[in-house]
Amino acid sequence: MRALPFITLSTLTLRASASSGAVWATPHDSYSSSIGVLGCKINTNRVAYWPGSVDCNNVCVSLSYQGRSVKLLRIDQSGGAHDVSYDAWNYLYTGYSATQKPTAGGAVAMEYQELAPEECKELIHTDDGKIPLSAANSMNFVASCLAQQGSWVGSNYGLYNIIDSICSMGFNEKCSLDLNVSNQPNCSHMLGLQDKLTTQPVYNIKYPTGDVVEAGTGQVVPSSTVSGSVGTKKGGLSPSAKARIGVGVSLGVLALLVVAGFWCWKKRRGTAAQQSTQVEDGLRREDSTSSAEPISSVTKGLDYGSDETGKETW
Ligand SMILES: *[C@@H]1O[C@H](CO)[C@@H](O)[C@H](O)[C@H]1NC(C)=O
Ligand SMILES: *[C@@H]1O[C@H](CO)[C@@H](O)[C@H](O)[C@H]1NC(C)=O
Repeated sequence: MRALPFITLSTLTLRASASSGAVWATPHDSYSSSIGVLGCKINTNRVAYWPGSVDCNNVCVSLSYQGRSVKLLRIDQSGGAHDVSYDAWNYLYTGYSATQKPTAGGAVAMEYQELAPEECKELIHTDDGKIPLSAANSMNFVASCLAQQGSWVGSNYGLYNIIDSICSMGFNEKCSLDLNVSNQPNCSHMLGLQDKLTTQPVYNIKYPTGDVVEAGTGQVVPSSTVSGSVGTKKGGLSPSAKARIGVGVSLGVLALLVVAGFWCWKKRRGTAAQQSTQVEDGLRREDSTSSAEPISSVTKGLDYGSDETGKETW
């Protein structure tokens, strides 16, 4: 009993140190969820498909790049890549939705931060705000989360009689679960019936065309079909964090310029060793460049941060 606080403390420390960092983010264009999250009841354009099993608490992350930031539901496990919904990746990379300006590209270094699950509320489209799961196929995950006392998913899940994550089979009805009575959810229709479900399709935005297709049928639909769900709320970076990033980038640029200036100066001194006047001219020119550039890029960095604040809405 005595050791418990120390164990808790060290767990917290580990968590804190693992809660942010850089990843090579890659685009992912077909919705899936290893734990059976129903794509018709969440924003499938804001999903993280990352290595490591999906957790009962750690289901929300923010991802940032060049002053832009999105929140993502971490509800699927990848084979090793840090995949994110194509639309989220495209927005972070270019500032535009994948339906507006689809872009091709590979892994891009982006910053992530783990967030409290509540931070991803706006990505969950159920009336009660609970994470929507397949009654027939999510029971292992639900049971494991219920077994973890106080886990977020354990007290914030909803079960629906829909078979698949892309909502093409089953019934759009809520089920109840009372593990004291049965380990199977109780739904109006029989649990797990595979009737065709067409009332709430999931749409994928295809890479790299930006075409919007119905996930169940592959049929291309007008991109306006998803325009309501593509936008998200503002990202997690505070203005001061953005300012810090701006200053950090500017300092990096300044350091590069100093190194480059020194290198040029050395090179010129080598080639024009006998013309000392010219060397001094060269040196002065380098100096004026490196003192003018950083100032403008500091200003740019800061302006950029605040300009971006309200930009993520369309
Ligand atoms: C299930 O049973 C346990 C003890 O038998 C009880 O504490 C718990 O409240 C019950 N759960 C429900 C949902 O009725
Ligand atoms: C299932 O739910 C219905 C309606 O709420 C209820 O009448 C029934 O007893 C439940 N069945 C089980 C096995 O819990």
